[in-house]
Amino acid sequence: MLLAAIVLSFLVTTIASSAALSSHIFWYLGRAAGLVAYWLLFSSVALGLVITSRAFRGLLGRPWVFEIHKFLSLVVLGFMAFHIFIMLPDQFIGFRLDELLLPFRSHYRPVALTLGGLTFYGSILLTASFYVRRFIGHRSWRALHYLSFLLYVLAILHALLTGSDSGNSLVQLSYFVSGLVVLLLLAERILNPQPPSLRPLASDTAAAR
Ligand code: HEM
Repeated sequence: MLLAAIVLSFLVTTIASSAALSSHIFWYLGRAAGLVAYWLLFSSVALGLVITSRAFRGLLGRPWVFEIHKFLSLVVLGFMAFHIFIMLPDQFIGFRLDELLLPFRSHYRPVALTLGGLTFYGSILLTASFYVRRFIGHRSWRALHYLSFLLYVLAILHALLTGSDSGNSLVQLSYFVSGLVVLLLLAERILNPQPPSLRPLASDTAAAR
């Protein structure tokens, strides 16, 4: 998925340059992909919380829902990669590869872009953990999964600090509503923890396969 997104961003680059489209096309595509990546990240974090929540257990504590969650995290990575690599041919800001990938290297909003980078690398780590779960054990996997909340906060901070659309009221509303949903689900998880006997979940069944 990650590789496909990188290849796709280079394909779009070639097509868009040969079709002599607006010189800002990569900037707009990159920003749009950033928004999609954020909304998908939100869906993945919310779904992860819902799967393991006591309130939704009967409805969504199923192996196939866990598989959707796992697949979604790959799709999120794909959109993140597209968001980053499609910025490369953009002439509006004129990023170099190292500016996009290394912390504090960018001449454009270095702190905000570093937060985006941390979100991206953290997401790669988290997605990879699905596939090495049987080697690292359920406890470490679960502990690592708490990282997703931090990544979600970093993603919102990145978007708010640098997004050109952060002033748009619809975009602001989407950040507010999604943030609130994550907060409420997290509060439900803390206030209504699963009894230890119920902890081996649908997710475990899936991982055991
Ligand atoms: C190396 C990592 C990253 C880099 C270099 C990067 C770069 C950028 C840039 C250049 C912008 C446009 C700034 C502007 O409009 O002034 C942006 C916006 C944005 N990025 Fe990232 N980003 C990275 C990671 C991420 C990740 C992982 C997410 C996913 C959750 C994300 C979500 C967004 C969002 C939602 C926006 C706002 C779009 C808008 O308001 O138009 N970014 N990013």
